[in-house]
Amino acid sequence: MSVDLQEHFDETIAHERRIEPRDWMPDGYRATMIRQIAQHAHSEIIGMQPEGNWITRAPSLRRKAILLAKVQDEAGHGMYLYSAAETLGAGRGDMTAKLIGGRQKYSSIFNYPTLSYADVGVIGWLVDGAAICNQVPLCRSSYGPYARAMIRICKEESFHQRQGYELLLTMMRGTAAQREMVQDAVNRFWWPSLMMFGPPDADSPNTAQSMEWGIKRHTNDELRQRFVDMSVPQAEKLGVTLPDPLLRWNDERGHYDFGPVDWDEFKAVIAGNGPCNTQRVARRKAAHDEGAWVREAAMAHARKNPERVRVSPEASS
Ligand SMILES: [Fe+2]
Ligand SMILES: [Fe+2]
Repeated sequence: MSVDLQEHFDETIAHERRIEPRDWMPDGYRATMIRQIAQHAHSEIIGMQPEGNWITRAPSLRRKAILLAKVQDEAGHGMYLYSAAETLGAGRGDMTAKLIGGRQKYSSIFNYPTLSYADVGVIGWLVDGAAICNQVPLCRSSYGPYARAMIRICKEESFHQRQGYELLLTMMRGTAAQREMVQDAVNRFWWPSLMMFGPPDADSPNTAQSMEWGIKRHTNDELRQRFVDMSVPQAEKLGVTLPDPLLRWNDERGHYDFGPVDWDEFKAVIAGNGPCNTQRVARRKAAHDEGAWVREAAMAHARKNPERVRVSPEASS
């Protein structure tokens, strides 16, 4: 490795400029970036399943149209992100194989089941809300294609959060049974939402390097605290109780204190033992297998029109 290249890279990062695909970058930076973007892309794609579960059972045409639009947005997010990972030399077929083979992760939150329509609202409010906290700082990621993809994704995520919160407000103005459904969904999704920020800082050995590289802008605990501070007043306005007896405002810190997260549960879900891991990956594999003819047809079309369409050989795998 030439010293000049390393110096140029360090300077680019120090000046808060972007690293672009053509630029030299350390192997560790490239590998970390691929891992992060692939994991993010997989989360968008797997994340379509829990809510997709309710599309055919939406309670009205309006709710169905909103949910369809939201789930389609998540597919789009996955596509932008796979494209961003491809600029680093990762193959789309290879990333899909790694997801299905359990060698690349996706967010632990999508391994929980969706038991009622209130879950659609709570996922929008809390899960997309947590995603926004995580993702807004990524619009300033040092890797250009990722940072640019995040700008559009964050705009769409804020629609997701609002549609969820509006659905919950409507249900809370409904019957006692509807209010109970909302409270039950909040009880099930609150703690897994806090886990979305990753392990506590003391247990997150890569944070320091990622912050140095401008890949990460805040620590897991900082983002988790920001999410709690944001969610408590929203829960009050909604009229639901967050399932944490230790949750209270701390005047000295200027933040809400909250109880301990069950990190054993988090580790079990990450290791593949959450309630829906097997089902989620099996469904993804089935969809990929059933889509083989589409990929083959696209390749055949590309071969017939080599001037007009350029498809990477990777697309066929
Ligand atoms: Fe998304
Ligand atoms: Fe979303």
